[in-house]
Amino acid sequence: MCGIVGYTGPREAYPIIIKGLKRLEYRGYDSTGVALQNGGIKVYKKKGKVAELEDTIVGKDLHANTGIGHTRWATHGEPSDRNAHPHQSASGKLAMIHNGIIENYNQLKQELSNKGYTFTSDTDTEVLLNFIEEIKSNNNCSLEEAVRVALKRVTGAYVILLLDNDDPETIIAARKGSPLVIGVGKGEHFLGSDASPMLEYTKEVVYVNDYELAIVKPDELILKNLGNEKITPYVQKLDLELAAIEKSGYDHFMLKEIFEQPRTIHDCLRGRLDAMAGTITMSGIQQYADQIVNTNRIIMIACGTSWHAGLVAEYIFEELTRINVEVEYASEFRYRNPVINKGDVIIAISQSGETADTLVAIENAKEKGAIILGVVNVVGSSIARTSHGGAYTHAGPEIGVASTKAFTAQLAVLTMIALKIGYIKGTIPQERYTQLLKELEEIPEKVAWTLQHSESIKVLAEKYKDARDFLYLGRGYNFPVALEGALKLKEISYIHAEGYPAAEMKHGPIALVDESLPVVFVATKDQYHEKVVSNMQEIKARKGRVISVITEGDENAEALSEDVMVVPEADEILAPMLSVIPLQLLAYYIGVAKGCDVDKPRNLAKSVTVE
Ligand code: AGP
Repeated sequence: MCGIVGYTGPREAYPIIIKGLKRLEYRGYDSTGVALQNGGIKVYKKKGKVAELEDTIVGKDLHANTGIGHTRWATHGEPSDRNAHPHQSASGKLAMIHNGIIENYNQLKQELSNKGYTFTSDTDTEVLLNFIEEIKSNNNCSLEEAVRVALKRVTGAYVILLLDNDDPETIIAARKGSPLVIGVGKGEHFLGSDASPMLEYTKEVVYVNDYELAIVKPDELILKNLGNEKITPYVQKLDLELAAIEKSGYDHFMLKEIFEQPRTIHDCLRGRLDAMAGTITMSGIQQYADQIVNTNRIIMIACGTSWHAGLVAEYIFEELTRINVEVEYASEFRYRNPVINKGDVIIAISQSGETADTLVAIENAKEKGAIILGVVNVVGSSIARTSHGGAYTHAGPEIGVASTKAFTAQLAVLTMIALKIGYIKGTIPQERYTQLLKELEEIPEKVAWTLQHSESIKVLAEKYKDARDFLYLGRGYNFPVALEGALKLKEISYIHAEGYPAAEMKHGPIALVDESLPVVFVATKDQYHEKVVSNMQEIKARKGRVISVITEGDENAEALSEDVMVVPEADEILAPMLSVIPLQLLAYYIGVAKGCDVDKPRNLAKSVTVE
């Protein structure tokens, strides 16, 4: 996700744009830039947040009545000054900002290179911009027509805002798959990824639809489809407040991010998993495939929720690749004197890519000859740059301190890596491989199905919010999910919760069980199910209050539970991406019921960049 802002009208454009970008930083913040119509197009851009850009251009002539601005969440090309938006065309006469992914940009880039074009950045945006300019000059047509022709060749998602030297008060915009709102003022127009940049100036807005193109002038808004047919803009009156817009109408970023998971898992799989073809494409893994296939050991290194993802991955990798896997807390691994052999493969898992313990742990391991693969969310972050290879989780900015969508994206990436390596090694029977790829492709829909039951979990939260302690129990692939569920509850509601292997209860912790203790079982149908059901009976026999995450239709487990949270049937290897969802919701709703600051829990930070 990136943030885009535009303005054309009688006011000074720069202050409107820069303030609007600050409001959109929740959509991405690794680089920012503005383009201003001021006796020709002036572009100012750099790596870093909006405030850093502001500091570098103080004192410059920023007068303009038309301009565009961008705050980036990198997908193609790591965060840097050169990859920051706006980009300028080869002639310098056009400037563009873009939110989305142009999936066929390589093909377009090749065509342009064959015509002698060169590029100053690694971005798909610059390719699209020069493609538009090539069409404009080749066909000797208007910019508007060139945009229409170009977008018919493009696959992927986009919102673009374009400035043209030859038409200084006009902004051309188009969208497909990414959001674009146009604010309608008196003799002025505003553009944004959402309404937050324009809210203080106008509440009259037009939501641009897919395949629509807007020609925006101070006193005129023309809307057309790609077939050049005019569309009457539908002007709506906004009744949202600023805070609500940033959260897309959800009460908290955490809830928004929980509900984003069908899309973020889909984005994680997109362009990589092709179940029909039976392929998994991950260039950052492919280039180290031989080392991974031949290694004697994989070490997962992470902290917190990411460490739980590593635990799930341990079960998956050992099952699918038959490679020995160890999972290490980064904070422990970096301080003891671990045995690291040349050829060991380390998978560093991190949402922020800046966790100090994880970063130092992999730096130490790298010095000892290990191959470092990063499974990271923030493009160009320290852990990503320190790693030899790896794969991004593409979950978008995760603002809530409690990690939710990043966790399921990590599981999706780690599952794809294990499938890819197992396939190369021949340790996965072809039929199982085909079945798992097909089922993995269906996970986003199954997550969406699970989220539809969120209201019933809200009722449970109200019922159990005053408990002083919780136990979370699971076996196999669901044991790490039990740990994750306990962590979510602890860090959001401040209630003590402990995750445990269900079979371990009889070795001591079962002494805790009485009628005041809610025990959450992660009990989806898998090879351990019968044993988990016995554990539920043991707890019930001691008057423990059994709450279970169960597979839809599991009457046996339901009969033993005081309350249930239901997920669809799924292969046990993929089940954690589903069974964690109700636990995220339970923690969120209990936290809200207790009046906690669920987006910024006490004592916590989103990224622990200190030891
Ligand atoms: C999880 O909800 C916590 N916010 C925390 O445990 C987090 O997972 C941990 O600090 C690791 O962060 P990272 O994934 O950014 O490295």
